[in-house]
Amino acid sequence: MKILFLDQSGKLGGAELCLIDIAKPYRNHSLVGLFADGDFRNLLQQNQIPVEVLTTQAIQVRKQSSLLQAVGSLGQLVPLIQRVVRIAAEYDLIYANTQKALVVGAIASFFTRRPLVYHLHDILSPEHFSQTNLQVAITLANRAASLVIANSQASKEAFLQAGGRAEIVEVVYNGFEVKNYQSCAADTKQVRENLGGERQYLIGHFSRLAPWKGQHILIAALTQCPPNVTAMFVGDALFGEQDYVQELHRQVRTLGLENRVKFLGFRTDIPQLMAACDLVAHTSIAPEPFGRVIVEGMLCGRPVVVAKAGGAVELVEHGMSGFLVTPGVPQELAQVISSCIQEGERTATIANYGRTVASQRFDVTSINQQIDQLLQSVLRG
Ligand code: UDP
Ligand code: GLC
Repeated sequence: MKILFLDQSGKLGGAELCLIDIAKPYRNHSLVGLFADGDFRNLLQQNQIPVEVLTTQAIQVRKQSSLLQAVGSLGQLVPLIQRVVRIAAEYDLIYANTQKALVVGAIASFFTRRPLVYHLHDILSPEHFSQTNLQVAITLANRAASLVIANSQASKEAFLQAGGRAEIVEVVYNGFEVKNYQSCAADTKQVRENLGGERQYLIGHFSRLAPWKGQHILIAALTQCPPNVTAMFVGDALFGEQDYVQELHRQVRTLGLENRVKFLGFRTDIPQLMAACDLVAHTSIAPEPFGRVIVEGMLCGRPVVVAKAGGAVELVEHGMSGFLVTPGVPQELAQVISSCIQEGERTATIANYGRTVASQRFDVTSINQQIDQLLQSVLRG
């Protein structure tokens, strides 16, 4: 199957990391077209997935853009659309992985008569998007897409709620190469030593720095945890959230937590870092569409404490494979962390069970089979 994958980002967000796993089986006959250059292109190349950056001009529409801004940006899309139309004619199917890719992909699909698949990685709700963006996404998906792959039941439900057609949407979770998350004890001990604080209880938080990812909730919770509890934040502000980064540093200083909080920036050794943590925390204050970091924490055999909203709820069964907490409530998070420390044996049993369940549910081979079957049926019409 010859697939033209489209993604607007050059950065390594969750949707882009997911696309690498999806595109890999088709790499001999497919192309990933990006609307921006960056580390994503490098990682695709490292995985021998053909990639082309299709425009170097930044597209000015953001998640909260108004109708006027959206219409204003259409003109700047024309050369990109022309290029995508020319390329798409050589492929069997167009696979849009982001919202701007959906816009360009829908137009290309119209001109080339190639079927369009839209991988929906977002919860299409007013909490995350402007009314204009929501309407554009739903209208284009309804009219142009043969199939919408939602990354969770929660993303599917938000799509339907916003007016999306039920006949075209299917839920497929992200897949993971399970063996990449198995670390040997000696390596983990070494990483932990390098991180310092072996006697401390280390909580890892592995998300890009953005207000809705709620890093500030974990910092606030630390003040209510025993003094040996420390936190490390892994991830960067990928989409210009520099004010929030400053706020986080200010919060740490104001609370006198300088010795208990570390910021590591963006890292490519997530499994190793996760394995070296005592616990992995997820603290999004808006519903998480899926939450790759949650599954990754489970695959590393770490206990996960997860904000109970959106797709995250589908990944963890409270008290069985991890812990769910009310989003945005530091006291509750602190209580759960403290009970994980006190009940170490129970917590380890839960983490082990979480690993087993995650390995079965999110194995990349079976997820890729699900996607392949769906794409085959799109091609059969
Ligand atoms: N990640 C990474 N390096 C970092 C921080 C995060 O590679 O420093 C990865 C993380 O392992 C996960 C992805 O980025 O696979 C984030 O995906 P998620 O679905 O959790 O959130 P998103 O940012 O896509 O909303
Ligand atoms: C998006 C979502 C995230 C999800 C990822 C992969 O980036 O924010 O929750 O895990 O896509 O589907």
